[in-house]
Amino acid sequence: MTSNEIRKIFLEFFEKKGHAIVSSSSLVPDDPSVLFTTAGMQQFKPYYTGKADPVKDFKSKNTTSAQKCFRTSDIDEVGDATHLTFFEMLGNFSFGGYWKEEAIKYGYEFIVDVLGISTDRIEVSIFGGEDGVPEDKESFEIWHNKIGIAKNKIKKAGRKDNFWGPTGNEGPCGPTTEIYVDGVEVWNIVFNEYYQKSDKTLEKLETRGIDTGMGLERLVVMMQGVPDVYETDLFHPLISKIREVSHGLDERTVRILADHLRSSIFAIADGVRPLNKEAGYVLRRLLRRILVYGIKYDIHADLFPLAVDIIADNFGGQYPEVKKKKEILEILNGEKTKFEKALANGLKEIENYKEITAKDAFYIYETFGLPFELLEELVPAKIKKVNKADFDEEFKKHQEISRAGVEKKFGGHGLLMDTGELKAGSEEEMGKVIRLHTATHLLQRALQDIFGPSAHQMGSDINPERARFDFSSDRKLTPEELQKVENEVNEAIKKDLPVYFKEMSQDQAKMTGALFFFKEKYPPVVKVYFIGDEKNPFSVEFCGGPHVENTLKIGKFKILKQEAVGAGVKRIRFNVL
Ligand code: ALA
Repeated sequence: MTSNEIRKIFLEFFEKKGHAIVSSSSLVPDDPSVLFTTAGMQQFKPYYTGKADPVKDFKSKNTTSAQKCFRTSDIDEVGDATHLTFFEMLGNFSFGGYWKEEAIKYGYEFIVDVLGISTDRIEVSIFGGEDGVPEDKESFEIWHNKIGIAKNKIKKAGRKDNFWGPTGNEGPCGPTTEIYVDGVEVWNIVFNEYYQKSDKTLEKLETRGIDTGMGLERLVVMMQGVPDVYETDLFHPLISKIREVSHGLDERTVRILADHLRSSIFAIADGVRPLNKEAGYVLRRLLRRILVYGIKYDIHADLFPLAVDIIADNFGGQYPEVKKKKEILEILNGEKTKFEKALANGLKEIENYKEITAKDAFYIYETFGLPFELLEELVPAKIKKVNKADFDEEFKKHQEISRAGVEKKFGGHGLLMDTGELKAGSEEEMGKVIRLHTATHLLQRALQDIFGPSAHQMGSDINPERARFDFSSDRKLTPEELQKVENEVNEAIKKDLPVYFKEMSQDQAKMTGALFFFKEKYPPVVKVYFIGDEKNPFSVEFCGGPHVENTLKIGKFKILKQEAVGAGVKRIRFNVL
């Protein structure tokens, strides 16, 4: 069975059971508190909470999909047999339709009757109760009495393993039951009966729902009888091409290249661009790793066009966006050119050093973007006294210093404020720049309403006389759009929305992806600024502050000018009166 067939059989099975087939949503989600789409349920969040009506939108309370997903939490494990950054998740969902018995029976029927997996290979797990959420006895009964799974093959686990969600700051969540084949988890059924608020408390959902996820890659490994995902037809064309052009490169590196090429191409096809923050930053790290390996292992072939062709051939049928080959390749090549420039400048800088200390290595990384591993490769003699741990230590120190600086300057004891972004010389000036700063958040949100989430902040500079905001966009706003943006910001100001932050642990932020991409880069607790009602905020941004307490304090927002700064970057100059 090919992977295309498996996907099709799955969707048709659930269509026959009264589910509407829904296309995958983009890898860039609507939810601003999440960087990437990490699960099939994400596009359906409003249907679980009653904000949207599934019958109106899909003519059914039940849906099914093959969803593109991107998870960065496992990035350090990529290269082994199972972990990937991009993967596809098959799922069936119900919003106030069927409940536990049907969900469990459908999953079991698909695995046993449709795929032909023999029952003795199957074990299951259920939620055993924890933190005031009771044990899921109903699922135990269904598995044991109705399906006939022996008691010793029904494992119980707590919140860590058998409780899902939420994605983002808050959302639907609930206990899960999982199906294992030969000890490998293949199917996860979530019983969404709670809503987790951003303070982590649980509320009962008015309508309960079903959310299931099955990793396509694992299923294909099982059905094609191959040792790992890289030998399935999902990866084989790409991996064998990389092997062919890289002559004897070790298998782990080949796999990392294959994974990163595939996920980068899918991310670019959905509008992510290499940048220095958020999703764009994750993409940039993946691409730079590919480029660094190209140098490190002396791969002469140009992997980008090869991969773009193969991914378009392999996946273009299911996901037509990867067929935009020219556009995708342009982005890839653009990043390559930037990296080569950075590399040339970095190498020039390195000539000035007889010996490179950990501090120097960090400076070179910060200024020229050359990772430590690359220095080891390029100038081993100069850097031989420094090891990775020294470099990491330097990295951490820098993070602490910049955080401490921000805290001190924002303490507000008449100190001159200079955070890099905000500059003020007196209390009065400080008041002004803080108003401009909050206006920046409103502006960014209004721009994203026009350009979508790919319009990222590229920089901003605020002093009491003027403010500017740079963002990524291939085109300028039309005069009408500029007016619309200005109006939208002023309307939000007039609504007198509250501005407040929540501190979230890395744990809570785990599903947002990027926080975990560079573990050491983030403090254990991060600040997230909200503008507007917590359930439906106007704006949510990771930010150190400071901000006004409510939007009315900003005053009148006025756009002064729009400029193009460089390819793909536009600048808006504005003020508040
Ligand atoms: N949302 C659940 C998962 O991703 C099904 O595992």
